[in-house]
Amino acid sequence: MSGDGDRPGTRIVAGGRRSEWTRGIVNPPVWRASTILFDSVAEMRAAYPPEDGRLYYGRNGTPSQWSLAEALTDLEPGAKGTRLFPSGVAAISAALMNVLRPGDELLMVDSVYAPTRKFCDGLLKQYGVTTRYYDPLVGEGIADLLTDATRAIFLESPGSLTFEVQDVPGICGIARERGVVTLLDNTWATPLLFPAIAAGVDFSILSCTKYVVGHSDVMMGSVTTTEEHWPYLCETSRALGQHVSPDDAFLALRGLRTLGVRLKRHEENGLEVARWLLEQPQVGRVIHPAFPDCPGHESWTRDFKGASGLFSFVLKGGGEAARARLIESLRHFGLGYSWGGYESLVLPIDPQRVRSVSKPEEEGPMVRLHIGLEDPQDLVEDLAAGLAAYGAAA
Ligand SMILES: Cc1ncc(COP(=O)(O)O)c(C=O)c1O
Repeated sequence: MSGDGDRPGTRIVAGGRRSEWTRGIVNPPVWRASTILFDSVAEMRAAYPPEDGRLYYGRNGTPSQWSLAEALTDLEPGAKGTRLFPSGVAAISAALMNVLRPGDELLMVDSVYAPTRKFCDGLLKQYGVTTRYYDPLVGEGIADLLTDATRAIFLESPGSLTFEVQDVPGICGIARERGVVTLLDNTWATPLLFPAIAAGVDFSILSCTKYVVGHSDVMMGSVTTTEEHWPYLCETSRALGQHVSPDDAFLALRGLRTLGVRLKRHEENGLEVARWLLEQPQVGRVIHPAFPDCPGHESWTRDFKGASGLFSFVLKGGGEAARARLIESLRHFGLGYSWGGYESLVLPIDPQRVRSVSKPEEEGPMVRLHIGLEDPQDLVEDLAAGLAAYGAAA
């Protein structure tokens, strides 16, 4: 177990390794269970109500899930606990259902991940919750958008296509004064680069599928929260029957142990490729939170401890077909959804299609890159060939 005074690099190694869970083995083993057997009726009764750390029934977890949840909580100073979910979207939707009631209004950032938007415009609406979208760069201007019905503000910073960095502490400060709950999709930064609870966020949400797992082979999500919100979050996730497999929890915890070193390399490689792209004649703009022209860059400089490996760029001229030529000519970038694994990925993106109140200017075809742990020189050479193919097709 890690101690309160330990630094994040130590906490990530020690978190969740209680001796009763590891039994002397370095990694807490996989504890598979549905039924838990009791020695007596009295013991069975005493185990109720179910709580983390006490075996009761498989759906309530075993040390495999508890150790991962505890290790994630350890990375968020000020947090009380973490619940695990079978995907990032499951974590987001459960967190929203946890705080919203019929008649409530949700302020949702316009740059949010599209399936989060779909959940709000679909199921939440059906349950009587109104969603209003706001400009990611609204900052403390969020105060003017609050109404008596506003119950929660959802943030995602930076946005995962257009990378606007939000003034998270500013927005959360106002929300707290007005009794409004805040939820942040912190997947891009993880708590290592942005400890969200300490910044004033009430619910820090991760798609663990990305950097926590880190190897593109497990789907998972997490919600970490404060003492105030913890009991009800537990109740909600239990009521929804949310559970993750112990094998997946084992893999996620194994991934988590190396998150710090992987993020460092994603950052270095990402910046090397992004800086190279800036110089290329076919590239109009590179959108990376570490670059001064990225919207909200000053918030990134103030609040973040570094960058991960996900960013976008805008091509000059050309169109759909030329962009496809570029993407399909790449050897080291897989074409597929998701990101945060050890490998590089490429995605054609059209963010204008999903925005409602803050549409980005149409400057040219856009591409999102996830820069993996490969040698960045190979990635640059690959992109050089791709951009040449783009130039020929444009
Ligand atoms: C920013 C962001 N949040 C949440 C999710 C959803 O996570 P999952 O795929 O684990 O459901 C994604 C997935 O791409 C994402 O990019």
